[in-house]
Amino acid sequence: MEQLTKRMKQAFSECGYEEKYGIVSVSNRPDLCQYQCNGAMAAAKQYKLAPIEIARKIEANCCNSPMFAKCEAVMPGFINITLASEFLCGQLGVMAEEEKLGVTLDNPQTVVIDYGGPNVAKPLHVGHLRSAIIGESVKRMKRFMGNQVIGDIHLGDWGLQMGLVIEELRDRQPDLVYFKEDYMGEYPGEPPFTLGELEEIYPAASAKSKEDEEFKERAHQAVVRIQKSDPAFTALWQHIMSVSLPDLRKNYDNLDVHFDVWKGESDAKPYIAEMIDDLAGRGIAYESQGALVVDIAQEDDTKELPPCIVRKSDGAAIYATSDLATILDREKLYHPDQYIYLADKRQELHFIQVFRTARKAGYVAPETKIDYIGFGTMNGRDGKPFKTRDGGVMRLEYLMKEVEDAVYARIQENRTMDEEQARATAKVVGLAAIKYGDLSNQASKDYIFDVERFASFEGNTGPYILYTMVRIKSILAKYREQSGKEPDYAAFREPAGSEYSCGTDETQLMLLASRFADTVEKAAAELAPHKICQYIYELSNAFNSFYHENRILVEEDTAKQARWIALIALVLRILGVCTELLGFEAPERM
Ligand code: ARG
Repeated sequence: MEQLTKRMKQAFSECGYEEKYGIVSVSNRPDLCQYQCNGAMAAAKQYKLAPIEIARKIEANCCNSPMFAKCEAVMPGFINITLASEFLCGQLGVMAEEEKLGVTLDNPQTVVIDYGGPNVAKPLHVGHLRSAIIGESVKRMKRFMGNQVIGDIHLGDWGLQMGLVIEELRDRQPDLVYFKEDYMGEYPGEPPFTLGELEEIYPAASAKSKEDEEFKERAHQAVVRIQKSDPAFTALWQHIMSVSLPDLRKNYDNLDVHFDVWKGESDAKPYIAEMIDDLAGRGIAYESQGALVVDIAQEDDTKELPPCIVRKSDGAAIYATSDLATILDREKLYHPDQYIYLADKRQELHFIQVFRTARKAGYVAPETKIDYIGFGTMNGRDGKPFKTRDGGVMRLEYLMKEVEDAVYARIQENRTMDEEQARATAKVVGLAAIKYGDLSNQASKDYIFDVERFASFEGNTGPYILYTMVRIKSILAKYREQSGKEPDYAAFREPAGSEYSCGTDETQLMLLASRFADTVEKAAAELAPHKICQYIYELSNAFNSFYHENRILVEEDTAKQARWIALIALVLRILGVCTELLGFEAPERM
C-alpha cells in the first residue's frame, strides 16, 4: 500500500496536482480491481475539473508502469488498479528474505502494559481472561514492532478481599498469634492455611460480608492495618501472597501469558504519603466531606465527571490512590513513552479520573501517550455474563478444560492419533480456540462464549486457522520427501512468462500475503488484535481455495510448482507470525 500510494502521489504531482490526492486503498470491488484511488474525485473540486478528466491523466501517467497490469480511469472518476503478477511476485520475494516479513519497525519506544490484574486470594475467573488474552497480544505486537515493552500484571493485592480473608480467619482460628494484640514475638514462617483452604475462605467471607455489617467493617479496618504496615497483618498478608502467587503463575503459564513484572497495587505504598502531601500542598487536591479529591472535569465533557478521590475520609488509600502512585513508580523506573491499561470497560470512569489527575499534577508529561483498552463482557449463550451451570463464577481451569474436551472430541472423530498425542494436541488447539474466540472480536464489544462454535474446525475459529497451518506443513513435508528439496524463495524471482493470469486463486493468495506488513503495522498502532484475526481468516480462506483448485504436489511444470511451494511456505510463515502475535501456536498434526 505504501509503494502504491507513493507511485500514485508521483502521478498526481507529475500531472500538476497536489500529491495528497494519491492515497491508495484496498478495492471495495474486488471483482473489478485489487486496489483503488479515489483522489481524482476530491481533486476535481479543488481544480474545478471533471473527476474523470483528472483520472484519465493519472491513467496515462501510470499505465506503462511495470507495477501495474491495469491502472484505469472509470466513470465518474475512480482509478482502478490491478497489480502486475511479476511485480507482486517480486514483492513476495523481497518480503520473504526479511526476518520481519517487510514490516517497517516503529521508532522504538518504551511501553508499559498493565494487564492481567487478577485479585490475589480470589480464584482467577473468566472476567480476568480477556485482560490477559488481549493484553498479551498487544504486548507481543508492540514488541514485534521493535519497542521496549514492559508487561506488568498489576496484582490486586491489597483490596478488601485481603481484609475479608484475614477477618474470616480470625473468626475461624481466633487463637492464632496474629490476632493477639499484645504479641511481640516473631510470626511463623508457615502460612496458617493451604491453597485449598484459602480458596474456600474467600467466598465464605465474601458471603458473610453481605449479611454482616460488623464483619465488613472489620474487614475494612484490616485493610487499613495492612496499608499501615501493621506487623501481624503484614505477616498474614504475606502468607496470602505466598500461597496465591504460585497458583496464579501456573494459571497464566497454562494460558501462555507471561509478565515481565509481577508488581501489585501494594508496591505503590512507598509513594503514597508523599504524593498525597504533594497533591494537597500544591492545591491540586482539596478536602471534600473529609475525603481528599481532585477536580478533573473539563469544559468539553459531554457528561458531568465526578472528582477523583485520592484518599478516603478514614485515611484509607483506594483504587485511584494506588493507580496514581503506581504511575510515579513507573515514571521513576521506566519513564515510558506510552502506557497501555487493560480493564473491563465498566472501569472507564476510574481511568479517566486517574489519567486526568496524573496529567494535571504533571506526573505524566503531555507528550506521553496513555491508552486504555476497556473491554466488553464475555457472555454465555443466554447473553448474560458467563457463569457455571449452577450460576457460580466459572473458574478458568474448568473453562479451559471444557474447550479442550470439545476439541478432543473433534480430533477423535478423525482418529489418527493415539490417546496421549490427542490430549496434548487438544490442549494446544483448545487454547487457540479460546484466544481466537476472544481476540477476533473488537475488544470493546461484548461477545458470546460458545464452546461448540469456538472449537469448530470450520469457520472463523482458531482451530480452523491451525488446521490450515497443519495442512500446509503436511504439503511441505510431502514435497521435501518426494523432491528432496527445500522450499526456495528464489522461485519468486524466476520469470513467470505467461503463466499468471489475474484474478486466479493464486493471485488472490499472493495479494493477501503481500498485505501482511500493512495489516500488522495497523493492528499494532491501533492496539487491535482483531485486525490480525480478520486478516488470517481471509488468508486461510484464500489458501484453502487455492489448495482445492490446484494439485500442488503433482504439478508437472516444475517452475510453477516451485513458485507455489515458495508461496505456501511464505503463507505458513505469515500465519506463524500472526498466531504468535495473538498468543498461540499450531501443533504438528491435528
Ligand atoms: N484488579 C483489577 C480488577 O480486578 C484490575 C486492575 C486493572 N489495572 C489497573 N491499573 N487498575 O478489576
